[in-house]
Amino acid sequence: MKNIVILISGRGTNLEAILKVQQAHAWDARISMVISNRADASGLDVAKAYGLPVRILEHQHFGSRDQFDQALLEQIEDCQPDLVILAGFMRILSEAFVTALTGKLINIHPSLLPSFPGLKTHQAALDSGVKWHGSTVHFVTPLMDVGPIIAQGVVPVHQTDTVTILSERVLAIEHIIYPVTIEWFLKDQLLLQDGIVSVIPPQSQSFSLPAADQA
Ligand code: GRF
Repeated sequence: MKNIVILISGRGTNLEAILKVQQAHAWDARISMVISNRADASGLDVAKAYGLPVRILEHQHFGSRDQFDQALLEQIEDCQPDLVILAGFMRILSEAFVTALTGKLINIHPSLLPSFPGLKTHQAALDSGVKWHGSTVHFVTPLMDVGPIIAQGVVPVHQTDTVTILSERVLAIEHIIYPVTIEWFLKDQLLLQDGIVSVIPPQSQSFSLPAADQA
């Protein structure tokens, strides 16, 4: 049975989407800990509602990024995870942290990377006039938002969109692609070669919303 640790900072809608599919598909996996760097993250209530152990590690109580990352890494390594999932974990991670978890640290980013790395991706998409936006699940590497891409989901951008409307559409595709990619990982179906991720046996790594949800 594979062992998972999930890191959050906020409301935890991706966490909830993952937990729903874990139950529905009876994953051969155990989530041994949900860790938040914010005590007020409502995602902690989601984790508790599913009976998961939670831990709060507030970054502001540490003198430096490296000290926080070291403490976080120790908590994670205590769980001996096969997979560490960043589910809205709003921290830049140090190279030492990322390197220690190479190959088992994944993130979901709210844009079609390599477009719009960093923050405020929905505003950036609206400002640039792109007609498609979306989300990317990727392995985490020391450089932010550039790790090998596991899957992407696209959503249309409409003329009348606001950041709020667009972000909700992107969240809907995130809730589809993150559980799927995690399931591939748990079933040892991901192959990373020369920076390119493929799925074995081959299947589509690109997703879109059902037509009814594209409005
Ligand atoms: C998502 O949009 C994700 O792409 C980004 O942070 C957001 C987390 O949302 N990394 P939630 O806490 O899962 O609702």
